[in-house]
Amino acid sequence: MSIAMANEAPGAFQGTLTDKLKEQFDAGLLSGQELRPDFTIAQPVHRYTSIDHAIWRKLYERQAEMLRGRVSDEFLQGLATLGMEKDRVPDFDQLNETLMRATGWQVVAVPGLVPDEVFFEHLANRRFPASWWMRKPEQLDYLQEPDCFHDVFGHVPLLINPVFADYMEAYGKGGLKAAGLGALDMLSRLYWYTVEFGLIRTPQGLRIYGAGIVSSQGESIYSLDSASPNRIGFEVRRIMRTRYRIDTFQKTYFVIDSFEQLFDATRPDFAPLYEALRAQPTLGAGDIAEGDLVLNAGTREGWADTEDI
Ligand code: PHE
Ligand code: FE
Repeated sequence: MSIAMANEAPGAFQGTLTDKLKEQFDAGLLSGQELRPDFTIAQPVHRYTSIDHAIWRKLYERQAEMLRGRVSDEFLQGLATLGMEKDRVPDFDQLNETLMRATGWQVVAVPGLVPDEVFFEHLANRRFPASWWMRKPEQLDYLQEPDCFHDVFGHVPLLINPVFADYMEAYGKGGLKAAGLGALDMLSRLYWYTVEFGLIRTPQGLRIYGAGIVSSQGESIYSLDSASPNRIGFEVRRIMRTRYRIDTFQKTYFVIDSFEQLFDATRPDFAPLYEALRAQPTLGAGDIAEGDLVLNAGTREGWADTEDI
C-alpha cells in the first residue's frame, strides 16, 4: 500500500463501532478526559508535542507546494480565508472564529471515527467532527484512520465555501434519513466519490477538491496525472451503485463541473432513488458503464485485483 490518505468509510460500520474502530477511538481518548454524549471532547491543545507540530508543518508545507495548480480555487480561498496555521496544529476554537462567521460551520474535536448517526447529526448541525490527534512520524504517507491533518487540512477549507457548506449540511440530514431507509451503503458511496475523492473541471483543467486526495501526497499526483484511473462525469445514480477502494488509490474519479451542480443534483428526495437502485447490481470500482461521460478510460495499470468495498 502506497497511498497517503486517511481513509474513512462512513456507512461501513452501521450504528455501532467495530472492535477495531472502538480500539482506535479509545486510544484517542485521554485518561480522565470527559467524552460528551455527542462523542466530542475539548481539543486537548496542551497535549500536542513538538513532534506533532513538526509533522503538521511538514505535511502542510508538502501539500501546499504539491497542490499549487492542482487543487480547486475554492479550496485555496478557504485556506487563505481561514489563515490556517502552517507551523503548528491549529487550535479549533481559533479556526471556528472565522469559520462560524463565514458559513456558520464549526470544527469539533473527537477521539476518532464516531458512529454513523452521530456523524450525520453533527453535519446536519454544521459541525465537522475532526480527530484531534496527529499521525506518527512513520505514518507520514499512509494511515488508515483519519487524523487531525486529514480532517482539518483536508476537510475544513471548503467549509468556507457557501455552496459546499450547504452540501455538507444536506448530506448530514440525508444520512439520518438514509440510515432509516437502510440505504447507507449507497449514500456512503456519494460521500466517498465527492467529499473524499472528488475532482472538479475548471477552465484551467481538472482540479482536486476531495479531502482524501488533498491530504495525500501520492494521490494528489495520481488522481490528476496518471493514465491508470477512469475519470468520469459526476452522476448521482451511477455513483450510488459504484463500489470503492479503501486500501489503494481509487480506480475511478468522478468529476463535477461546479459545486452548484453537486448541490442541485443531490437536492431531490433520494427515497425513490434508493428503492430503484436497490434492484440494480452494483458496479466495481473500475468498471465503465453504459451512459458514462468518460473523460479518461483508465489503462488499469497497477490496479489491485482484490475486492472493492
Ligand atoms: N436529497 C437527499 C435525500 O433526500 C439528501 C442529500 C443531500 C444527500 C445532499 C446527500 C447530499 O435523501
Ligand atoms: Fe475524510
